Amino acid sequence: MPKVTIKKDNISVEVPAGTPLMKVCDDSGASILFACRSGSCLSCLVTIESGLENLSPPTEVEQVTLSSFGCQPNQRLACQATVNGDVVIE
Ligand code: FES
Repeated sequence: MPKVTIKKDNISVEVPAGTPLMKVCDDSGASILFACRSGSCLSCLVTIESGLENLSPPTEVEQVTLSSFGCQPNQRLACQATVNGDVVIE
């Protein structure tokens, strides 16, 4: 099963492929904040240290939000991404 590591919270969990990253955060007690939960507020912005390719491609709404706020290519919205393989979040 894919392993999700959230370094700042010292969390490392294994989840079934296809699990929403938001669910991983909620279930593991991560400190990542979720306000809108729909990809528009940026509160859940995370920086991916490795495994970017193991997240689902950005949704259209995520692409718009990330580009309008000038986010980096290795940053994603945790409320929009799904886990398909190992991922390390800063
Ligand atoms: S919770 Fe608002 S963008 Fe993810």
